[in-house]
Amino acid sequence: MTIHVKSFYDKPTGTGTYVVHDLQTKEAAVIDSVLHFDAAAGTIGTHLADEQLAYIKSKNLQLKYICDTHAHADHLSAAAYLKTKSGAKTVISKGIGEVQARFSQRFNKPVVADLSTLYDILVGEGDTLMLGDVTVNVIATPGHTSDSTSYLIEDNIFVGDTLFMPDVGTARCDFPGGDAAQLYNSISRIHCLSDNTTIWVCHDYPPSHRQASLHTTVAESRRSNLHVNDNMSESDFIKVRTKRDKSLAVPKLLYPSLQVNLWGAQLPAPEENGTRYIKIPLTTQENVNAN
Ligand SMILES: [Fe+2]
Repeated sequence: MTIHVKSFYDKPTGTGTYVVHDLQTKEAAVIDSVLHFDAAAGTIGTHLADEQLAYIKSKNLQLKYICDTHAHADHLSAAAYLKTKSGAKTVISKGIGEVQARFSQRFNKPVVADLSTLYDILVGEGDTLMLGDVTVNVIATPGHTSDSTSYLIEDNIFVGDTLFMPDVGTARCDFPGGDAAQLYNSISRIHCLSDNTTIWVCHDYPPSHRQASLHTTVAESRRSNLHVNDNMSESDFIKVRTKRDKSLAVPKLLYPSLQVNLWGAQLPAPEENGTRYIKIPLTTQENVNAN
């Protein structure tokens, strides 16, 4: 093994963040970082990202990439903050543009045609990045969102919300651009990897009888994933997924997350009084009638 993976768990959002580094050159990547947001108080916290920076410093690592697996709708990404602190390059799927365009009108925020002004490296299926001597393979895994991407590094795959722990199953597919059939296909690609490949998930919402856990294996996922395993067909999965999605509430941080994460993980610009604001688009009878 030539890489090391250090995981961090953020309890309030159930998010797993990873610092992966090449043991030889000490070049590192952060995958799926979190900025804390207390919606009631309007405060932003950087303590988890700071913990990762401290870890990177303590191990003498050089942070090269700050990767996101997709347009997160349940937490704010700390990518822009980490970039400011480290100078590392932000990485996300080029599909982020399509997701941004989908939500631009909702937030009354302009589509940014030149995405390179928001993100340093835009990746797509089959692309590779180098972490020292180690190759990071980009695999497009749409379904949960249209821009969902997994990063395969040796026998570790960072899947974002494409899979959850086996006893939790899979992520919702009912956001605009989500698609259960596509998710099934993306999971099939992950389940085709060798049995001992470690799957690192972006979230764990553990049932009450166990602690949070962030990794499983392809063999275990194929054998026992609640929603998609070797004994279930695509149509079984679509039925289960669609039924479950109908029962789910809107994520608490949906609007705060999207208006930040789709525009380079940058907080909204300050208004004339110097204060930044997060907006919540309201659904009223007026705009229901207008649409
Ligand atoms: Fe997500």
